[in-house]
Amino acid sequence: MSRKPDAGKPMPFGVSEATRLVQLGRDPFSHERVINPPIQRGSTLLFDKADDLYRSGPLSDMKGYGLEGLSTQDRLCEALATLSGGVGAVLAPSGLQAITLALMAATKAGDHVLLTDSSYGPTRRFCREVLGNYGVETEIYDPRIGAKIDSLIRPKTSLIILESPGSLTFEIQDVPAITKVARAHNIATLIDDTWTAGLYLKPFDLGVDISMQALTKYQAGHADVLAGALITNSHAWLKRLTIMHQMLGIGTSAEDAWLTLRGLRTMGLRLAHQDKVARQIATWFSTRPEVAEVLHPALPTHPDHAIWQRDFTGAGGLFSVVFKPEKAAGIHAMTESYHLFSMGFSWGGFESLALPSTAQVNRQFPARHAQGPIVRYSIGLEAPEDLVADLTHGLEVLNGVCPD
Ligand SMILES: Cc1ncc(COP(=O)(O)O)c(C=O)c1O
Repeated sequence: MSRKPDAGKPMPFGVSEATRLVQLGRDPFSHERVINPPIQRGSTLLFDKADDLYRSGPLSDMKGYGLEGLSTQDRLCEALATLSGGVGAVLAPSGLQAITLALMAATKAGDHVLLTDSSYGPTRRFCREVLGNYGVETEIYDPRIGAKIDSLIRPKTSLIILESPGSLTFEIQDVPAITKVARAHNIATLIDDTWTAGLYLKPFDLGVDISMQALTKYQAGHADVLAGALITNSHAWLKRLTIMHQMLGIGTSAEDAWLTLRGLRTMGLRLAHQDKVARQIATWFSTRPEVAEVLHPALPTHPDHAIWQRDFTGAGGLFSVVFKPEKAAGIHAMTESYHLFSMGFSWGGFESLALPSTAQVNRQFPARHAQGPIVRYSIGLEAPEDLVADLTHGLEVLNGVCPD
């Protein structure tokens, strides 16, 4: 948990986000004048006053134990909180653990939770299989429900979980409409904002209480770190999350925090490039006869484009392509034939990835294009023309397997 305002030089009023990404979370003159903060490892912390032993801890201004995170983790929390406009952050050793920590902190037996149908699969599984066993009921709602979520609110509803866009089917949620209802009923809201990495969406401005980011993706950026964060603009929520973080014994290594902080320095450039190339490739896909629909909210053809335009200032480099149903038999041959797009879970790294899937995976309500095979593409840092050549080659393979 970050305890104090961001370390280092005071930042001139109104500096841009690009500048913040360079400056945040470091204070060279507090550690031998090197630019990057050191990796501070440690379990036991020493005290010279016995009284201090029992007044230290995650909620005091004196740390008690290494599990609370030391200076390296604090620098990262400070940077993330400042970027998102929050008052603080807690770290977890994966994005999924950040989500489960928030769910444990925000619910108790007897509660009712509303979860978007477009959510990341393991979020849904935790709600159903873990929270369910502890007496918390999860109800799935249509991601496009907007203000009509009011009709699903019960006296015991304690939490609404949003993910915008859904990371496979890319529905954009009407976040302000949902948070308005939540606030009127005193219900907490949690959003998975991994897609914009806290850069292109500002959930607190839209009324959200807790923002979750899987730092594994764009922040770390090199497919070699697992980490997650919960950021909040509420001191009360920061306290609750910090207490649950301590009770669950969640620790994030100093090395992973350090690598993530290092990734932040270049994230603005990487994400801007990945956004630009993803839009180019999404537009290119939309001209292809093999494709039924491209699911990228920045394309004007996307059904939620207007909401994306209203609430976002950019896009992640992740989108899906729905191929025509008659192409289903050739999808695996196509993705296996790529030279540059590798197949694998996760996204946000420097290498482009392709993930064959189906829109209906994990869904409760019928997904649009449930019948069409989907491939989710994560755009990396390769030259766009090489990526298009690879995708063109893949379509030739697809057409060879599935002649028209
Ligand atoms: C949308 C979304 N949220 C959360 C996560 C979880 O992140 P992690 O892999 O760090 O557990 C993922 C991982 O793929 C994701 O796609």
